[in-house]
Formats: sequence, C-alpha cells, structure tokens
Amino acid sequence: MATPSDVPGLVAILAQTPWEKSAFIKAAVINDEVAVIDEGVGPIAFVVWNREFFGRPFVWLVAVAGHARRQGLATLLFAHVEAACPGTRVYTSTNATNAAMHALLFKHGYVRRGELDLDPGDPEIFYAKDVP
Ligand SMILES: CC(C)(COP(=O)(O)OP(=O)(O)OC[C@H]1O[C@@H](n2cnc3c(N)ncnc32)[C@H](O)[C@@H]1OP(=O)(O)O)[C@@H](O)C(=O)NCCC(=O)NCCS
Repeated sequence: MATPSDVPGLVAILAQTPWEKSAFIKAAVINDEVAVIDEGVGPIAFVVWNREFFGRPFVWLVAVAGHARRQGLATLLFAHVEAACPGTRVYTSTNATNAAMHALLFKHGYVRRGELDLDPGDPEIFYAKDVP
C-alpha cells in the first residue's frame, strides 16, 4: 500500500490525467486505500479503492504514468483489488468519453450497470464484475 512518502509520485501521475485530485489522493493514502506499483524509482501506477460504496468494493480511481501505459499495469491493479474481494461484486465507474477505461473494463469482464449525469455532457458510466 502507498505511504505518505509516495504522495509526490502519485500527484505526478495525476498531473498526466485530466483531473486535479491531489487532496483526494493524500486523504486516500492516509486512509490506507491506495495500492501502488513502484519499480524502484517511485510510483508508476496506482489504484484507489475501498468499501464505502454502500458497503461494496468500489474502485474510485486507477491511473498509470504516461510512459508506462499499455503494459498491463492497470490490469494488475484490478487483479489486486479482485483478489481481495473473492465472492463479491466489484464496482467502478468512468466518464463516457474515457475510451481506454471502457476498453479495459470490457476486456476484464466488467458489465455496464448504469449511468449518472455527474459531469455535464460526459456522464459517469457504472460497471460491476462478479468476482468468483
Ligand atoms: C486507463 C488506464 C488506467 C489504463 O491503464 P494501462 O495500464 O495502460 O492498461 P492495461 O495496459 O492494463 O490495458 C489493458 C487493456 O485495456 C485496454 N486499453 C488500455 N488502454 C487503452 C487505450 N488507450 N485504448 C484502447 N484500449 C486500451 C486494452 O484492451 C488493453 O489490453 P491490450 O493492451 O492487450 O490491448 C490509463 O490509460 C490511464 O492511467 N489513463 C489516465 C487515467 C484514467 O483515465 N483513469 C481511469 C479513470 S476512472
């Protein structure tokens, strides 16, 4: 799990995404909700998840450093979450426009469950997967 010393590296990854979420990631690290992949030079990918979505496992955010994408790291992070949740349903969501994330979720057996208009013009699409 990520520790406070990982926060600058996590924020650097977030700087390569469309979102400013440094306060969110700092709080998630303190709450021990961040699993990180670190190849010895600092974080290159992370996932934030907990059981605060109606008591169910929910992946709130996964992000991979730009230079490390398409190498299976997000796949590893989802496998990590699923391994911690045997016999349950894992939930996640992403914006309608996030084609990479939709492709990843489809590839790994996540099924579209619904949508909410959280961001105007770019609805949040919810997915779930029953983990054996
Ligand atoms: C979305 C994201 C997390 C994917 O991470 P990744 O480590 O590159 O994903 P993986 O290498 O595990 O990809 C697994 C599969 O997902 C799909 N996929 C991933 N990125 C894709 C892309 N840019 N375009 C199309 N399909 C993609 C492919 O099917 C891929 O398998 P393949 O490489 O064998 O074709 C990464 O692009 C990222 O950090 N994006 C910015 C942050 C973000 O959007 N996070 C999600 C917010 S909810």
